[in-house]
Amino acid sequence: MSIDHQRIALVTGGIGGIGTAICKELAARGMRVVAGHHPDEASQARAWQERQRGEGHDFELAAGDVASFEAAVAMVRDVGSRIGPVDVLVNCAGITRDKTLRKMEPEQWQAVLRVNLDSVYNVTRQVIDGMLERGWGRIVNIASVNGQKGQFGQTNYSAAKAGMHGFTMALAQETARKGVTVNTVSPGYIATEMTDAMAEDVRKQIVAQIPIARMGTPEEVAYLVGVLVDERAGYITGANYEVNGGLFMSF
Ligand code: CAA
Repeated sequence: MSIDHQRIALVTGGIGGIGTAICKELAARGMRVVAGHHPDEASQARAWQERQRGEGHDFELAAGDVASFEAAVAMVRDVGSRIGPVDVLVNCAGITRDKTLRKMEPEQWQAVLRVNLDSVYNVTRQVIDGMLERGWGRIVNIASVNGQKGQFGQTNYSAAKAGMHGFTMALAQETARKGVTVNTVSPGYIATEMTDAMAEDVRKQIVAQIPIARMGTPEEVAYLVGVLVDERAGYITGANYEVNGGLFMSF
């Protein structure tokens, strides 16, 4: 299939560890890339944009709290008017608030569910009509190995990440006939600020269980996202792909 215009990709959590690598991968594949970020991180986002420019990447920014439906409406509208319609959406915004359930406060439960799972509805809802009307779209939800296997201290995060794949499978069925694919990528422990925040001894214990015997890199996740959004990936939908160094194996 020939492409008649440059694809526009929106990556939520685009200035984070995995998000940045995804932005670069999609740009390398010829897409115009917009990195979504929280409005409170506007100055970090501008600094990030400058750094990327220094490396030869011309990324756009879009501010919006993806945990809020109204903010997602405004953010995608802004992208539409400044840049154009979103052809590729990567839902990569995510946070952790690790606590055992007996210590978990409602705020910690809700924050993780809102940012990691509600956001997928909030943002995808804004782009889906356009993708269906144009007869082409790619949606990739960045979940986690811990949504598949559960993790001590992460009832909130594991529930949200498992929920993302339920969303993927349901939406994939709704969009399959219209050229829009929806897939999940489930990274394992990837070297980013999120995993840096873990206690050193806990991290060591986890790495000791990884068959490949190291943490992954953001680029190793981004590579797979690049494949899934490719023009030639039109027959892959509703699937979950693992990039976890063998930490959890399933089929
Ligand atoms: N399995 C079984 N028991 C465990 C355990 C485990 N994995 N880890 C701790 N315990 C035990 C302890 O030995 C201790 O037992 P005793 O009470 O008998 O001494 C007890 O559980 C501690 O329970 P607490 O409620 O007091 O827990 P805590 O406050 O010490 O620590 C925690 C809780 C901060 C959540 C800590 O367990 C932790 O950091 N866990 C790792 C969470 C994790 O993997 N986060 C990933 C972040 S990165 C990410 O999420 C990206 C991604 O997608 C992979």
